[in-house]
Amino acid sequence: MFKSIAIDGPAGAGKSDVSDILADKLNFIHVDTGAIYRTVAFYFKNKKDRLDETFVCSKLNNVFIDVKFDDNRQKMLLGGVDVSDKLRSDEISKIAAKISQFRCVRNFLLPIQRGIAKSNNVIMDGRDIATVVLPSANVKFFLTASLEERAMRRFKQLKSKNVECQYDEILSSIRMRDRNDLDRANSPLEVSKDAIFFDTTGKTIDEVIEFLMFEIKKVIN
Ligand code: DC
Repeated sequence: MFKSIAIDGPAGAGKSDVSDILADKLNFIHVDTGAIYRTVAFYFKNKKDRLDETFVCSKLNNVFIDVKFDDNRQKMLLGGVDVSDKLRSDEISKIAAKISQFRCVRNFLLPIQRGIAKSNNVIMDGRDIATVVLPSANVKFFLTASLEERAMRRFKQLKSKNVECQYDEILSSIRMRDRNDLDRANSPLEVSKDAIFFDTTGKTIDEVIEFLMFEIKKVIN
């Protein structure tokens, strides 16, 4: 039986960095489900003016997604082409926020996510992993932090990469993404009843990892 750890939470809570470190420590693979949604968004990049539900649902048959793991690092293929490094732009974030509201998109991606967990030990991060994708995960976490702290972390991360950005713009973009995640009718972001809730505001990444590893070790090994 393969093991699974679910990590849900809002944008900018640090799920991805934390999951990468945990995956290395445990020798699991880290499945970033946001990247899977972003790959669907990438398909619709040139069809931005037609992102209504009927149109998007009618095109999903043409979307060929493959998730590969190279040295435990996730690669996203669309129609056989590696698009992994094209998924982080603001444009793709906006399309992903839109199309992830649609039930047909969520249903389309469900078996892909579950399929990976069926044949690997996984740390899977996203918005609905504990509640919908892997309801029987061995350990479930919900990571969050204050809106301001999440925006500041993102701001510092972009600055350290010399990306020109404004704190206020990042703050309002994260606020908008929160609204999308919380208000959507289909699989909204919510804390699973059996998840361990952890507010990382004011915590260092080492402190977060220490707490999560402590909880994981109670259940796995
Ligand atoms: O985590 P992220 O910002 O890379 O996610 C991109 C988009 O996909 C975001 O709008 C939320 C959505 N998403 C989702 O609806 N369900 C998931 N399990 C993961 C991401």
